[in-house]
Amino acid sequence: MIKMILNADVKKGRINKNIYGHFAEHLGRCIYEGFWVGKDSPIPNTDGIRDDVVEALRKVKVPVLRWPGGCFADEYHWRDGIGPYESRPKTINTHWGGVVENNHFGTHEYFRLCELLGADAYITGNVGSGTVRELREWIEYITFDGDSSLANLRRANGREKPWKLPYVGIGNENWGCGGNMRPEYYADLFRQYATYVRNFSGNRIYKIACGPSDANYHWTEVLMREAGRYMDGLSLHYYTVPGTWQKKGSATQFDEREWFVTLKKTLMMDELITKHSTIMDRYDPEKRVGLIVDEWGTWYDVEPGTNPGFLYQQNTLRDALVAGINLNIFNNHCDRVHMANLAQTVNVLQAMILTEGEKMIVTPTYHVFDMYKVHQDAQLLSLEFTSSLYSYGDEGIPQVSASASEDDHGKIHISLCNLDPNTVADIRCELRGTRRTRVSGTILTSSEMNAHNTFDEPNAVKPVAFSDAALVDNVLEVKLPSKSVVVLTLE
Ligand code: AHR
Repeated sequence: MIKMILNADVKKGRINKNIYGHFAEHLGRCIYEGFWVGKDSPIPNTDGIRDDVVEALRKVKVPVLRWPGGCFADEYHWRDGIGPYESRPKTINTHWGGVVENNHFGTHEYFRLCELLGADAYITGNVGSGTVRELREWIEYITFDGDSSLANLRRANGREKPWKLPYVGIGNENWGCGGNMRPEYYADLFRQYATYVRNFSGNRIYKIACGPSDANYHWTEVLMREAGRYMDGLSLHYYTVPGTWQKKGSATQFDEREWFVTLKKTLMMDELITKHSTIMDRYDPEKRVGLIVDEWGTWYDVEPGTNPGFLYQQNTLRDALVAGINLNIFNNHCDRVHMANLAQTVNVLQAMILTEGEKMIVTPTYHVFDMYKVHQDAQLLSLEFTSSLYSYGDEGIPQVSASASEDDHGKIHISLCNLDPNTVADIRCELRGTRRTRVSGTILTSSEMNAHNTFDEPNAVKPVAFSDAALVDNVLEVKLPSKSVVVLTLE
């Protein structure tokens, strides 16, 4: 029996809706085929953007969409992606399969996509192989309302009014694919670039510095020390890789050992955020600077027979658990984590959506985002508990991951994950500081750890109503099935 105490009168801050953000790179079939099919495609589209994908993503309320990369961003030149399609240059996507990029999806298409999704824009500028001037001019092109040549070029290309551009990343992984820089060098470059990322025509830009990967605490230390006062956010990238980078493991063919290792590695996210935040606290005790986890998710071997540079992988119930655990961690760290972006939205890594020609399916990960959307912009509540252990071999990890929030309508939402694929978790949660009489819920689970949706069986894994929760004298009793994600609402 796991005993929990929910202190509904102890509010721990707002869960920024941007924690439920996404990332779409020019990589494999994410942008091309996934979002963009072109205006002449027989696949139903609006201005070249797939209607089915937009409709599915609108349902989960995508708050922000990061683009154009990733590694791609540090070799992207925005002028290649404006103007008539026939005059856009063909370039090489050196990072992802060496394929030819026709630049048909560029700035105008991206902002149209954001409009259709109702999402905020988050562009990543080219620091690795670009110039300060190039980034400064891109921002003028996007946001300036007056009579400048660049704003007039935007108008000539079909957009009269400037767009809203709230978030700009200054480079991506500049310790690696973004230029192999040392933190001292990048910190200075960041300061230089950030100076010229201007706020035109009332647009206010939140500037995100390239942060560390995994446990590179030295990078965080140097960036905060040398450039902390010039930034609004510092990124963090952490992927769940069950095996090694050489042999990561299959997305669908795995045993319980790999299930256990995957979830154990996912729980590392909590330690990483805690330790990077501790460094940030020394330089920024008011927590003004956000930790922006703008790449996270599972990374497996590609599906057999697919292009290794396209990072196409299936998505099972295990990925649903990874998503549920990470989102609980982000919620519980909402004082410092201001945004997170799942990698990547369509057809790449831990995708929300998979497409094949005109067909489209949603993944178990998608369903978790749908279930958890109730936390967006809600108040995080104090939820105290010590979990029982899920043991495998001679190792153990917490069996249950959880977070709780109260929304603007006074409804309380508790998201629970049972990491153990074999054992039910009995939970008894005492409610303090509130009186509730009604509980309802939704569950995502299956009898198989590797259950997943396919184009032939698109609804093999989907959420259903959950009835094993009861409220008795203000105590919530839950029988949380093995390998499940559950979201409860208390009224
Ligand atoms: O998401 C795939 C790649 O992973 C991104 O391009 C890069 O930033 C990271 O290494």
